[in-house]
Parts: sequence; C-alpha cells; structure tokens
Amino acid sequence: MMSTQLNPLMATIRMARTITTVARKSAAILMLSMFALNAQAAGDAKAGEQKAATCAACHGANGVSEIPTNPILAGQYVSYLEHALKSYRSGERQNAIMAGFASQLSDQDIEDLAAWFSSQPGPLQTAPIK
Ligand code: HEC
Repeated sequence: MMSTQLNPLMATIRMARTITTVARKSAAILMLSMFALNAQAAGDAKAGEQKAATCAACHGANGVSEIPTNPILAGQYVSYLEHALKSYRSGERQNAIMAGFASQLSDQDIEDLAAWFSSQPGPLQTAPIK
C-alpha cells in the first residue's frame, strides 16, 4: 500500500530531477553556442586589412591620416568604428563621401574593417582627466 502511494511521488521527483539536469545541460549548450556566435561575429583584422585598401587614400596607410579633415581611424575603439560606419550606411550620420563608401559595406565588412583599424597603432588618445 505504502509503495503504491509513494511510487508516483518518487516518479515525479525523479522526473523533476531529469528535467533539471536537461535544463542545466541545455543552458550550458546555449551559453557555449553564444560564445561561438560571438567569436564568429567579431571582426577579422586580417580580412579587414584587405578591405581597407580603398580607405587608405583618405584615412592614410593603416588609418593614420595626414589630412586633418579625414579622421584618424588607427587605434579607435572597435565599437566606435562600427557605430560610425553603420550610421553613415543608414544615413543617421550624414556625410556625402562616407555615405557612398559605407553603402558598399556589409556588416561583416564593417566588423573586419573596425577590427583592423582598431588594432593599428595611432596617435588617438582620450583626454586626460582634469
Ligand atoms: C574620399 C575620402 C575618403 C575615403 C576613401 C574614405 N573615407 Fe572615411 N571619412 C572621410 C571623411 C572626410 C570623413 C569625415 C566625415 C564626417 O565629418 O563625418 C570620414 C569619416 C570616417 C569615419 C568616422 C571617423 C570618426 O572619427 O568619427 C570612419 C569610421 C571612416 N571614415 C571609415 C572609412 C572606411 C572604413 C573607409 C574605406 C572603406 C573610408 N572611410 C574611406 C573620407 C574618406
């Protein structure tokens, strides 16, 4: 009698444990795949170097522009470069020259270019705290 009453309870507990284990494993797999996605989404600096050939005329070799009206890109934050290029592409940031160049770029191009310019040594620095 005892066992017939306990068995459904035990079965429920066992099922709950199984579900918890499965949930933990799925969470772990999900997190791993998110890391993998992140790794994939990050720009490839080597590919960016190839794509940057067209930018050099204005932004200088490796993004160190000698012309004051053309911003220095070397050493700039990845997030800043990506945001700037996406903003030119969407028209949110307006500049006739850059709109033309940015319209040709895919998200991957932008990530690669940002990775490349960001990794280059340059004179950019944040203002000292006063
Ligand atoms: C014909 C000249 C020219 C070429 C070629 C060119 N740019 Fe630009 N770029 C400019 C100018 C001028 C600006 C400043 C525009 C402004 O005031 O918003 C600029 C701005 C930028 C900015 C914003 C920088 C900042 O500090 O806000 C980025 C990023 C950028 N360019 C990336 C690129 C990339 C990547 C390429 C190559 C695919 C490229 N540019 C090609 C002239 C050029």
